[in-house]
Amino acid sequence: MDDYNATSVKAVLLGESGVGKTCIISRFINNTFDQDNLTTTGASYAGKTMSFDEFGGKCIKYEIWDTAGQEKYRALTKIFYKDAAVAILVYDITRKASFEEIKNYWYQQIKDCAPKNIVIGLAGNKSDLYDNEQVTEDEARDFAREIGAVFKLTSASTNTGIDDLFRAVGCKVLDPDFNPNSNKTPNNNIQIDDGKIKKKRTFC
Ligand code: GTP
Repeated sequence: MDDYNATSVKAVLLGESGVGKTCIISRFINNTFDQDNLTTTGASYAGKTMSFDEFGGKCIKYEIWDTAGQEKYRALTKIFYKDAAVAILVYDITRKASFEEIKNYWYQQIKDCAPKNIVIGLAGNKSDLYDNEQVTEDEARDFAREIGAVFKLTSASTNTGIDDLFRAVGCKVLDPDFNPNSNKTPNNNIQIDDGKIKKKRTFC
């Protein structure tokens, strides 16, 4: 993949401790899942380049920051989303409190401290544990719509929805009018010239 022409995009994963932020990143970057992950202290960084056929093969070089969910690290976490292009808010579908925390803390933090045009993704993780679901998909989708976020159900354990999530937020970075929550198929009537999108795509 051509890293040279790739757009660099800083993405941060935010959410309560234990929702699966580190596991989502490990799955996306290395396609691995560790059942006994240690809690993150501070923050760590990983990179991956993704190609977008939807945008004529344009690439995004993701610089992904894994932040600590524990409350004692919150002052530190702020530093990481100040200049981010993408924020992915992660909750655990089996833990209602982790979703409430997204609404009452993490989203408010982004509104107050992150760049105004930041692309927001909402990930309902541990979707493999749907028998113990405490947050319904409809509830999460409504909230995502309200805040203009991309919504995906994900499972780091079964590798569900994670590539889709990074693809959907990436599309929104490349074209802010892109609607990843729509089921409609995009027309590929865009042209990339000198790394700039010349013609916006339409939906049929
Ligand atoms: P902090 O580092 O403390 O902020 O936590 P975190 O959000 O990074 O969570 P982490 O990735 O460490 O995962 C916490 C636990 O959830 C681990 O035991 C994982 O194995 C488990 N886990 C993560 N993702 C999934 C998932 O999709 N399904 C299931 N069943 N378990 C998961």
